[in-house]
Amino acid sequence: MNQRRVGVLLGGWGEEKDISVKTGEAIATALEKKGHAVTRILAGSGLDQAVRGAGIDVAFLALHGRMGEDGKVQGLLEVMGVPYTGSGVLASALAMNKGFAKKLFRQHNLATPAGYVASTAQLDQVEELHCDLGFPCVVKPSSGGSSVGLTVVHTLEQLRPAVALACRYGGEAMVERYVKGKEVTVAILGGEILGSCEIASPGATFDFTTKYEGGARYHLPPRLPPTRISNLETMALTAYRALGCRGAARIDFICPDVGNEVLLEVNTLPGMTPTSLLPKIAKQRGLSFEDLCEKLLALATTETVDVQPLPAVTERAVPSRHVG
Ligand SMILES: Nc1ncnc2c1ncn2[C@@H]1O[C@H](COP(=O)(O)OP(=O)(O)O)[C@@H](O)[C@H]1O
Ligand SMILES: [Mg+2]
Repeated sequence: MNQRRVGVLLGGWGEEKDISVKTGEAIATALEKKGHAVTRILAGSGLDQAVRGAGIDVAFLALHGRMGEDGKVQGLLEVMGVPYTGSGVLASALAMNKGFAKKLFRQHNLATPAGYVASTAQLDQVEELHCDLGFPCVVKPSSGGSSVGLTVVHTLEQLRPAVALACRYGGEAMVERYVKGKEVTVAILGGEILGSCEIASPGATFDFTTKYEGGARYHLPPRLPPTRISNLETMALTAYRALGCRGAARIDFICPDVGNEVLLEVNTLPGMTPTSLLPKIAKQRGLSFEDLCEKLLALATTETVDVQPLPAVTERAVPSRHVG
């Protein structure tokens, strides 16, 4: 086996720091079991020096949210020439911005809930922006994760405070029509469909507590007809390709009992704690947590830009300024 010097980047800047530490620890242990030389690197200011000092061949990103998942750390590693796991700069940035991602989904005919983006500067006009979207609606940070700063809004009076809260976490708020249905997530690994899982949560939304402290029930495969699952998986792959993702990604959907499924978001650095969804889906496919980490490591790369070499110039054509 090809033993590598791996830096597991964990911790970070966002609200999901603690989850990132759990994810990172699980990954580091798995890679050690596989025989790799692992350094745990706590991400923060001075990350460039820490990466340089660790003398690693490859970075395994166990980060979530701001900086780690939105393309910024990916950009740093690109500049340093260190290969890393997961999506590149552009795909990470696009997936992390729910407003931009929604525009791309629409261009690719991927159904997504009707909605709009509102910034703090637009707080006074939010009732106008809302127009006939109706209630209930979901207000969430445009760039964030783990349902932090998310509110289900039932009345016009609740709208402005919810938008202000979401803006505090995500810079801007994404306001969407509330879609009632089964929650399904699809895992893609290396450009191929890995599988899908239904998350049945006792509450109205799949919230932070339910997500990380148990309470949700998982169904693999989802309790849906095979044709519907296959449609979701195809949509997930289209979304992965639309954003230009790499490595692993997890794509979230809501499937109403009546009506078409809608795409919520693409997660470019899905959780990797022992209870996380990607490892669960991988296990169902016969891929252990250690093998999943190994596979992700094998897919690590820097951006490969195929620049066609220019044809050799024999004679330089000088445009003539005077004709005749
Ligand atoms: N438009 C919506 N309709 C119904 N529920 C929603 C909607 N948007 C989000 N949710 C609920 O909130 C959860 C988190 O939303 P999501 O868009 O996946 O953001 P994130 O996971 O980044 O916080 C979803 O898993 C779902 O339970
Ligand atoms: Mg989500």
